[in-house]
Amino acid sequence: MKRILAFAVKIAALCALCFCASSCGKKTIACAAEKRGVDFGFAVSVTDLLNANTQKLLTGQAKILVAENCMKSSQLRPNKTFWNWSDPENLVKFANQNKIVAKWHTLFWHEMNPPFINSLKTKEEAEQMMDEHITTVMQKFKGRIRDYDVVNEMFNEDGSLRDTVWLRTLGPGYLERAIRKAHEVDPAAHLFLNEYNNEAKGYAKADAMYNLVKDFVERGVPIYGVGMQLHLAADLPYDEEAIRQNIRRYADLGIKICFSEVDVRIPLSRLEELEPKQKEIWKSLMTLAVEEPNVESFIVWGVSDKNSWIPAWKPGYGNALLFDKNFKPKPIYFELAQIAARR
Ligand code: XIL
Repeated sequence: MKRILAFAVKIAALCALCFCASSCGKKTIACAAEKRGVDFGFAVSVTDLLNANTQKLLTGQAKILVAENCMKSSQLRPNKTFWNWSDPENLVKFANQNKIVAKWHTLFWHEMNPPFINSLKTKEEAEQMMDEHITTVMQKFKGRIRDYDVVNEMFNEDGSLRDTVWLRTLGPGYLERAIRKAHEVDPAAHLFLNEYNNEAKGYAKADAMYNLVKDFVERGVPIYGVGMQLHLAADLPYDEEAIRQNIRRYADLGIKICFSEVDVRIPLSRLEELEPKQKEIWKSLMTLAVEEPNVESFIVWGVSDKNSWIPAWKPGYGNALLFDKNFKPKPIYFELAQIAARR
């Protein structure tokens, strides 16, 4: 009995090694999803990329990587004269070396801006700053970064445009202007608008985004895709059919979808009760991603529960990711890999 056990342990250890180290481990979500036309991957922090174990895990588990924070304006360019290229460069080099797609998040956002951006006043100043930002970043990474979140979180929940420094200085046309400029600098880049609560058809914000994108497509504004952040919670309503309908109406426009920041948090006081609901949501999302041809990527917002943003930003919630605090895949991980592999 003991020998059988020892043998089983050895086999398990060997499998675990393959699971992490292989560039396309058979049982990984990334490998199975890739075969269905979906790039699966993670948002990573600077710490993740400095850690040899996380690096090893990512080379086996990710087909796409995005920076959790270091490409945002306040971190990239904390003041007018200093650009911190080293963190984004580390990420992009790591991705390129390991044949992983690199994504930029985000050129423009209302949060995490340095003071010199937030205090822009005139149209001329803002136009100059917008062009400088796009040109500086996109020229530098031309050919090395495929996907860009051009603008992040531009809508209010009622579907009106959010009050940001860009809206105040440039008016509603700032979105189109940013996309046109980005396309001019790197015509091969895939340009996205990214949002939260924009996944379900029939919800004001989701419909507003669809109408904006439809107008862009009709007028030839070179948008490539829409990001649906999908920071979801096991104790909130979830409507698979409304999401599917939304994805499909984008397909009719020729617009690709990125599931861009997925996590499914759970109230820590109701862990056992809500875990089945949490699993259903994960499984539904993976099913949608592999079944709907215009869903091109599925990015989880963080590698493991050890470094997820959820406990700090959504107090009382946690357990939102696919790897636990010890970087061990949870049972749901394997269920998702199976869904991705199923035909
Ligand atoms: C979050 C990061 O995860 C945190 O570490 C940071 O402190 C704040 O930003 N929507 C987005 C992401 O588009 O950029 C946010 O990331 C999470 C919500």
